[in-house]
Amino acid sequence: MKKTLLTLFLCGVGMFCLCSCGEVSGNTSQKVQVGVAYYNQTDTFVRELIDCFKNELETYKTEDLEVTAMVREAAGLEKTQNEQVKELIDAGCNVLCVNLVDRADPSEIIDTAREHDIPLIFFNREPVTEDMMQWEKIYYVGAIARQSGELQGEMAAEVIKNGGVDRNGDGKIQYVILEGEADHQDAIIRTENVVNTLNKEGINLEKLSYQIANWNRAQAENRMKQMIRQYNDEVELVLSNNDDMAAGAVDAYDELNYTEDNRPVFFGVDGTSVGLQAVKDGDFAGTVYNDKEGQASVMAELSVALATGGSLDAITFENERYVYLPYLKVTADNVDEFLNRK
Ligand code: GAL
Ligand code: CA
Repeated sequence: MKKTLLTLFLCGVGMFCLCSCGEVSGNTSQKVQVGVAYYNQTDTFVRELIDCFKNELETYKTEDLEVTAMVREAAGLEKTQNEQVKELIDAGCNVLCVNLVDRADPSEIIDTAREHDIPLIFFNREPVTEDMMQWEKIYYVGAIARQSGELQGEMAAEVIKNGGVDRNGDGKIQYVILEGEADHQDAIIRTENVVNTLNKEGINLEKLSYQIANWNRAQAENRMKQMIRQYNDEVELVLSNNDDMAAGAVDAYDELNYTEDNRPVFFGVDGTSVGLQAVKDGDFAGTVYNDKEGQASVMAELSVALATGGSLDAITFENERYVYLPYLKVTADNVDEFLNRK
């Protein structure tokens, strides 16, 4: 009897020590509650990226670590997103992943997060440096915009040099560009770099038109139809800032019953399911893979570390708080590798 009591007592003391030790070491929480806010559910790439992110978070779940994600989309409204961030914090989120509606105006979100001391990971829509420097618990995960333009340009140059693109044989490539949102880093920088790269590769270019289609397939189809009406079958090359808009351009040619022989070649960026399938089917000559698995994996690693007070040593940052994943070229030759990714 005495022995049992003693054992019970000792166990109790042990338990007490364990609990209080846990408390003393402080910021190691066993609960990761991620609040995800993104700009618009109409965006294919961001939706696929968030699906990947949720899968990545699953891999961190253990008996001792509870990991949950709450996701909100803002339908393109900054005011809605500001409210959603407050709701996510009220709901108990201890780390935030935010895909800004307006990348130029994150101040309200930063203030809210800072007030509650909740670390903030921006992703895909990059804030300007001054905003990133507003607080030391702000991070960014994305990709190197410049590289996506360069890789698209290199792939296009290769296809052009192989012949067949200059259909009217005037020694110049008549091209159009479909651009994403006007003030998005990926739109501005991709356009600039794809053209520069083609020039550097010695391709003689003639710009017919630039049209903004906000990453959107239906808008791109409309813009492309207008351009086809204006230029008939003069367009030899369509450079699109993303796959959805390149797919919209292909839709326009399909609808207007253009045959293979009087269509341009199309290039996208992202490697979404639609984009990869288009490369596989030969509708696109190529796309540039926006590494959603890589980005999602860093976002998950960072979220867990920040929410549990864990070490960030395993993560390679640029300028202390940025992580950029590289882009990859996708053509018919290697598309299967990407289609097999999970
Ligand atoms: C880009 C991507 C686009 C679009 C945009 C949204 O990186 O290529 O398709 O998703 O992000 O911010
Ligand atoms: Ca030509």
